Formats: sequence, structure tokens, C-alpha cells
Amino acid sequence: MAAPSPSPSNTETMLQEHRSFPPPPAFAAGAHLSSIEQYEALHARSLEDPDGFWAEVAADLHWFRKWDRVLRWEAPDPVWFGGAKTNLCFNCLDRQVDAGLGDRPAILWEAEAMGPDGAPIVESWSYAGLLEETSRCANALKAMGVKKGDVVTIYMGMVPQLAIAMLACARIGAVHSVIFGGFSAAAIADRVVDGNSRFVITCDGSYRRGRVVPLKATVEEALQREGAGIVTDVLVYRRTRDADAPFTAKADGGRDHDWAELVHQQSDDCPAEEMDAEDPLFILYTSGSTGKPKGILHTTAGYMVWAYLTSRLTFDLAGHGDGPRRAGRAGDDRLPWSPGPVDRQSDAPVDIYWCTADCGWITGHSYIVYGLLPNRVPTLMYEGAPDFPAKDRFWDIVERHRVTKFYTAPTAIRAFMKWGDEHVEKHDLSTLRVLGTVGEPINPEAWMWYREKIGGGTCPIVDTWWQTETGGHMLTPLPGATTAVPGSCGKPMLGVSASVVREDGRPAGVNEGGMLVIDKPWPGMLRGIHGDRQRFVDTYWSAVEGKYCPADGARRDENGNFWIMGRTDDVIVVAGHNLGTMEVESALVAHARVAEAAVVGFPHEVKGNGIAAFVIPHGDVPAPGSDGEAAERDALIAHVGRELGPIARPDQIRFTPALPKTRSGKIMRRLLRSVAAGEEVTSDVSTLEDPAILDKLLGR
Ligand code: PRX
Repeated sequence: MAAPSPSPSNTETMLQEHRSFPPPPAFAAGAHLSSIEQYEALHARSLEDPDGFWAEVAADLHWFRKWDRVLRWEAPDPVWFGGAKTNLCFNCLDRQVDAGLGDRPAILWEAEAMGPDGAPIVESWSYAGLLEETSRCANALKAMGVKKGDVVTIYMGMVPQLAIAMLACARIGAVHSVIFGGFSAAAIADRVVDGNSRFVITCDGSYRRGRVVPLKATVEEALQREGAGIVTDVLVYRRTRDADAPFTAKADGGRDHDWAELVHQQSDDCPAEEMDAEDPLFILYTSGSTGKPKGILHTTAGYMVWAYLTSRLTFDLAGHGDGPRRAGRAGDDRLPWSPGPVDRQSDAPVDIYWCTADCGWITGHSYIVYGLLPNRVPTLMYEGAPDFPAKDRFWDIVERHRVTKFYTAPTAIRAFMKWGDEHVEKHDLSTLRVLGTVGEPINPEAWMWYREKIGGGTCPIVDTWWQTETGGHMLTPLPGATTAVPGSCGKPMLGVSASVVREDGRPAGVNEGGMLVIDKPWPGMLRGIHGDRQRFVDTYWSAVEGKYCPADGARRDENGNFWIMGRTDDVIVVAGHNLGTMEVESALVAHARVAEAAVVGFPHEVKGNGIAAFVIPHGDVPAPGSDGEAAERDALIAHVGRELGPIARPDQIRFTPALPKTRSGKIMRRLLRSVAAGEEVTSDVSTLEDPAILDKLLGR
């Protein structure tokens, strides 16, 4: 196991973290889970009797046909809810409409730009409205030739039509592959080819800080790349009405269809396909140790139940028609969070939930769309940047929409801290009840700022650890039940058995760092890497037999709380997003000037980790500090941005005549990490092939 790369919140500070925050009693009293004893009893039951437990959870949702058996498990292949028939889109929309809640708000959307009168542009989509547009979109996909099981690539900005496109795929059993709208043409082409995807849904452009991001032009560029010509049809939602966006109608010999025409010609009647429990639902690409991204496969029923339950418990959700909490339901032996029959007259408060992620990441899949709609909780989508038109935009949104549950990334929190408290203090944030974080470790200082400044010193914070592969939350505090400690991601979710092990697979001691492993199957687990069985087995299932290995280092403290210590593979988590060092290295060596490159992470004040690239150029190394060096550096940074997308742009580029290698030819990344971090190099350099290289790297 490689040494976990330390996060900016260094391990020392975290080991000394003794502040702890039990749930506020008034909050706990009304929560779905309201004490540690209740959590422990349910957690034990979920592991001892998974079949009984998950059958009860699943009963909250709609099934065309119930399962024959809850779980069949032969590592690494589970069958969850085998024999059942269901549809996730039906559970998101039809179920609410059928229960008489069709007119209630399901998605609240806010545009980045203000309207002509200076007021925000807001759309409220009801379940019935969404169902209509989703059904039309689903019929449009059918008209384009999309069939059950086909992979549909979605590359859009944060507009309601993105959620509608996802839901339309789920409705007809097409498998969506959403690509973050900041990714490059090369990234799109790779994913189209890997997924053998003949259909694309995109926008002409999206807005970012008032500027148009040309999505359609990027798709065009992608489809010129090798192999990507397999795409036959592109559905284009015109968001920016940008006249420069390329468009050649299918009827004119091109591939393109205009959403406004094709979708709006369709009938709004499209029955939801009855899907088998293990039918593929989506693939979502994530970075791995090699250059090629992994298409993580999730299937229908298990993912649906997992997204539903984890949303409900982690954010303690209250949805339309839920009625009073369990505390008000004497003699009721259902699970404590179960909403039971819809109460249309209920005047119990309903949450307004906002997750600031993009639907291009798993967080957007599970915690903007698929976990929230079945919970009947209005989910807010915001189109743009947090600092547009001003640095208080998020808090302005929270105040105006009366947001109760808020979910964001540590990197954003660190940026807010840097921008200054005045932007926060302008706004009334008193509606907030639970704050969440995701994507990377949060340093205790940022955690405390979040609690004090955003949460008014009272909101429970849920630091949720999970991955694209896990589908939903795995380790997290539960806001009414567990005591939160800044920097710790708390305890296992119901149904999750997690442990920390040594390299030989034996359990690590209290506070001893080791590999995090998940011991038992859970409904939202990945079912594979698209088209690569061997990589799936090797990556996740080979470190410890029969256990899922997420490649994160961790320790568990004396109270049973987990602390994530960083990746144990060659993935760098940058601003909450995974990047493979190999991906960045491959992009660099694709540049004519680069002979060899090695990429490592280093602690970064805002992004958690930054990217440092050590580059051996063809020909001469540019003179340190020269204009030539600066120009070459800028050119390489821009090149990586174009190849992989802006997130992957290196923060540091250092030209060097050679890289530090061991005599067996392995690059000594630990040494490069020290150099990039500006630390004293303490690694043992005796195994270096050329010990003088260190002086060269340090410019001595
Ligand atoms: O290293 C962990 C880190 O992000 C990785 C998963 O990245 P991704 O698949 O892109 O999913 C991000 C959204 C779930 C993990 O292996 N990570 C995620 N959440 C946390 C975290 N590290 C520490 N604390 C967290 N709460």
C-alpha cells in the first residue's frame, strides 16, 4: 500500500481534535433517528438480518413486481432484489403524481444570470410538469432510435433539462452516461467510444460567470476524434441561443435534433419500462490509477433503494405528504423514517434541499436527482458559479429559497472563508437545519467556520464519505443520532460494515492507520467497470479477499469514528474531484515539447490538493525564472486544460533534465511530493539511480 497522501488538514491536527458536537436536543427529538442507541440497534439489525431490513426499507417505494429474494451474494457480484420489477423514474415522478401531489414543487431551478429587471430567474417544476416533459423527452429518444440498454451520453449545463434527460433515460431503460460540462472534447470522445454510445444529449452552450461555455462546439470536436463517429443522433437543448453553436439537422444530412422541435412534438404519454432489478441504470466515469477512466456501472433497484434511504437519513428529510414524524405515530412498528401513506392535508414543514454539486458527478446523480425525488423533497438546482454576480450568491440563494438542508464541498467552504465573512453576514441563513460536506477531507478549521458562520453555531454537520463506486453515503454522522467531530466522517451508514485493516488484511488497532475496507455488500454498490471485468476485480476486490477496497487510507478512533487519511493509489482528489496522475501525465506527454512527465499532489489551501507536474522536455530545459520558462509553462497548463478540462490544469510545472528513479526504474513519487510541497526532503534517497538529481530538482 502506498502511503496515504496527507490532506491539507494534517494528520497531526486531526489526532489532537477533541471538540465534539452532539445533536442539539430539540433537533434530535424530532429526527428520524434520534439517539446513538437507536442508531446502534438499527445498524446491528441491518447487518444481522439484511434481508428483513432491506425488505422493509424497499417497501417505501413502488414495485411493479416484488423481489423473490432480497440478496444473493457471491463476491464480487450481488443480486439485490432479484426477480423484482421497478422503475426509478416512476418512483421519482409518477408515484408522487399518483398520490395526488402532482402540483407540488419537485425541482427548483435558478439561472445564473439575473433577469432584465435585475431579479433572479427561477423556475419551479412540479412532479406533474416534470413527468410531462420527461415523458416527451423519453418519446423523443425513442424517435431517435434509442432502445432499452443503449448508452446515451449527456453533456449539458446545470439546467432542469439535464435532470429531465437523465429521468427520460431511466424511464425507457436507456443507460445514461453523464459527462461533466467542464470536460474536454477528448474526454467526451473517450467516453463515447468506451461506452459505445450512439446518442448524445447536449446544450448549445451553458453559462459560467456570465460567459458562454460552447458545449455543442465541444461535442462536434469530440465527434471528429477517432472512433467517436459512431454517434448517429445528437439532441440539442438551446439554452444560450448562441448563433455560433454548430447545428446540422439530421434531416439535412447531419446528426442534430432541436429539443424545442423534437421533444415538443411528442406525446406526453410514455409508460415507464418495467425494469429488472439488476438492469443497468447508468454508467459514470471516474479516474483510476491508469490513464483510462473507469465507467462505473450502477443498476436499478439496489441503487434506487440506497439513494432513497441514505438521502433520507443523512439529511433527515421531510417530504411533501410525509405527515408527522414517528414520534407522533404511537403504536406504529414501521421503520422510524418510513413516511407511510401520503397525507395530502399535512401541514408539517417540508424541506428545501440544495446540493451545490453538478449532475456530472455522482453527488449530483444521487443527491440532486435520484435520492431526493423519491423522498418528495424539493431539490434546488443552481446553474452557475458561487461568485456570480457577487461572492454572496450562495447565501443569497439560501436566504431567498429558505433552504433547510445544504450540501457542498470542503473546497468551496475554504474558498468562502478566504472571501471573507461579510458576504455571509449580509444574509439570513436561519432556515438551515443540516449542513453536509462531500468529496474530500474537511480540515477542522473549515468545519468550525461552516458550523459557526453558515450553521449559526447549531446546525449539525454531516461529513459524508463515499465514492462514485459506492452510489451513496457509506460513512457519515447522522444529524439527530451521532456526535459529530470536526474532520471525522463518523460512523457507517445502516447496512454498511466498514473496517480498517493492515496490509496483510488483519484488523488495525484503534487509531492505527490502514486501508479502509467494506466487509459486506450494500444495495448501492457498483456492479462493474463497463467492459472491463478484470479491472473491476483487480481494482476493488483483490486487496482483501471478498471485501471491497476503496483505496482510501483511514483510521478508526476510540469512539468508533472514522478518519479518512487520503488515497492509497495514484488518484489525486483535487477540489473534491478525482484525477488520475496517469491521466495528467499522458496529457502532458501528448504535447510535442514533453519527453516524460511525473505528476503528484501537494497540499493546497483551497483545493485540498493541487497538481504538480515534473516535466522532462525534449531538448534544453528552459532557464529557471526566464520568460521562456514562463511561456512554456503556460502553454503546457493550457494544453492539459484542453485535453482533460480546466480541473486538471497543473498548479505547478517544474522543468527538469531527469526524474528521480530507483535503480529498478520506479519514479520516487514520495520525493516529488516533498519537493512540490516545499518540504524538507526526508525520504531515503539512497536507492536513487542518480542521487544528484535531487539537487537539480531543487534548483541547487
Ligand atoms: O478519497 C475519497 C474522497 O473522494 C474519493 C471519491 O471520489 P469520487 O468517486 O469522485 O466521489 C466524490 C463524491 C462522493 C474517495 O475515495 N472523499 C469523498 N468524500 C470524502 C472523501 N475524503 C474524505 N472525506 C470525505 N467526506
